[in-house]
Amino acid sequence: MLSRVTTFAIDGLRSRRVTVEVDIRPGLPAFTVVGLGDAAVRESRERVRAALLNSGFEFPSRRITANLAPAALHKAGPGFDLALAAGVLVASGQAPPEMLDQWAFVGELSLGGEVRPCRGVLAVAEGARQFGLRGLVVPVERADEATLVDDIAVVAVASIKELVGFLCGELKTRATRAALVSKATSNDELDLADVRGQEAGVGALEIAAAGGHNLLLWGPPGAGKTMLARRLPTILPSLQREEALEITRIHSIVGLHSTAGLVNERPFRAPHHTISSSGLVGGGAVPAPGEVTLAHHGVLFLDELSEFARSTLDALRQPLEDGWVTVVRGQRSVRYPARAILVAATNPCPCGYAGVGDRCRCSEPDLARHRRRLSGPLVDRLDLCLSLQRPAIGALTQSKGPTSEQVRTRVEQARAIQSKRLRGLRATCNAQMDSRQTSDLVRASGPALSLLDLAYNASFLSMRGHQRVLKVARTIADLAGSVTVEREHVGSALALRQHGSRLGEAA
Ligand SMILES: Nc1ncnc2c1ncn2[C@@H]1O[C@H](COP(=O)(O)OP(=O)(O)OP(=O)(O)O)[C@@H](O)[C@H]1O
Ligand SMILES: [Mg+2]
Repeated sequence: MLSRVTTFAIDGLRSRRVTVEVDIRPGLPAFTVVGLGDAAVRESRERVRAALLNSGFEFPSRRITANLAPAALHKAGPGFDLALAAGVLVASGQAPPEMLDQWAFVGELSLGGEVRPCRGVLAVAEGARQFGLRGLVVPVERADEATLVDDIAVVAVASIKELVGFLCGELKTRATRAALVSKATSNDELDLADVRGQEAGVGALEIAAAGGHNLLLWGPPGAGKTMLARRLPTILPSLQREEALEITRIHSIVGLHSTAGLVNERPFRAPHHTISSSGLVGGGAVPAPGEVTLAHHGVLFLDELSEFARSTLDALRQPLEDGWVTVVRGQRSVRYPARAILVAATNPCPCGYAGVGDRCRCSEPDLARHRRRLSGPLVDRLDLCLSLQRPAIGALTQSKGPTSEQVRTRVEQARAIQSKRLRGLRATCNAQMDSRQTSDLVRASGPALSLLDLAYNASFLSMRGHQRVLKVARTIADLAGSVTVEREHVGSALALRQHGSRLGEAA
């Protein structure tokens, strides 16, 4: 007898419909799975066999062939177990076939017959809706994630027994819809008010958050670079539902999403400097998203920037500019989103003390090597470059600066002004405007423009730098509630960029 079960395979960040055909006929006992599955798919034969037997069902001692169609699509992971088990149960007459037409099945099985969580359920639920299916059968732990998609019924099963109950029409659907869980959790213990002194650093962080600008912090050890960078997520605007869905989809596919329902905080990714280019921007034999994609809508923090391999940093240049990255492997090409705020931190020289009195002990070749490692084109893409010095000794006893919540309120006001200006465009904040949008939408006063031209003519800026200063000035003006960009806004933006050229001198 033949059965057909619908399931989905993850392809990039989307799901593709897969039909599991199970054929059982007389012959020597065998269980073959064909259809370009990886090792996990081949191993699912053992899980399905043991799960059925341990749940009190029969595993037919006949010739069983399962085909995952379309056969040309690569299939990975253990999420096909549940569909295979349903296929075997129906093809062997142990469950009726009626429910298979309108439902899709995903989930991993344990040998004992329990249904385990699997990856990418949100993308699968979106696929099920796209194909007009009635609903989706998922592991209990992933039910909240599946119910994020409207117009699709969700049935959560904990075991093979419950799966059979569902196939016999005895299990009800779940209709809960996971809400945006209120506030960030793990960020709660970090607050901007912990940072004493460093007003310029806190100010630059606020501008970075308000306009989505990339930021480089450099200075001697212990100046507070890492401390500041880790507090950036606490002042970013709260997540919109669309953004949260996008993050949940990505994190669920790579297996990072452990909570139920929607991701409720912006990602903060801080990869170690030994990371490879494919780890950073995506790649691998089976293309997987990199850190820049995992940080989408959040923060990518590269601490000790000068320790990263130059080629790794250079791989970031295109994604930073475009907001997405295309990974090509063989015949396959996958496009991943990559709109994260990049924050980088570095010491000015290998010993860390260049520019701090005469403490620097680095030789000329050391300095030259350090300078070479900081990719010039990458630094040119960083809108804000700030030199942090050790706070004065009195700073620790000073009264506290603004709290994260106070700053986030200002950031959200500035973002609201930007969304109005950018309505209908793909860009959602100043940093994302392309050159045409920058020239069309940023209104600057005459003195502001002449100051910018002066800086350009004095060779402080590249053409890209010119545009970026204008965008940062726009953000500073938005924070100040000014309709046009004035000379003082350009002045502040220039001051926050020239440190970049001084970094080369100090090193
Ligand atoms: N401005 C500050 N206010 C309060 N504490 C600070 C400040 N700066 C540094 N500290 C304290 O010093 C510690 C080290 O700071 P941090 O790790 O941010 O330094 P860093 O600039 O990243 O140094 P490195 O170059 O060695 O990485 C912090 O954990 C914090 O306790
Ligand atoms: Mg540090």
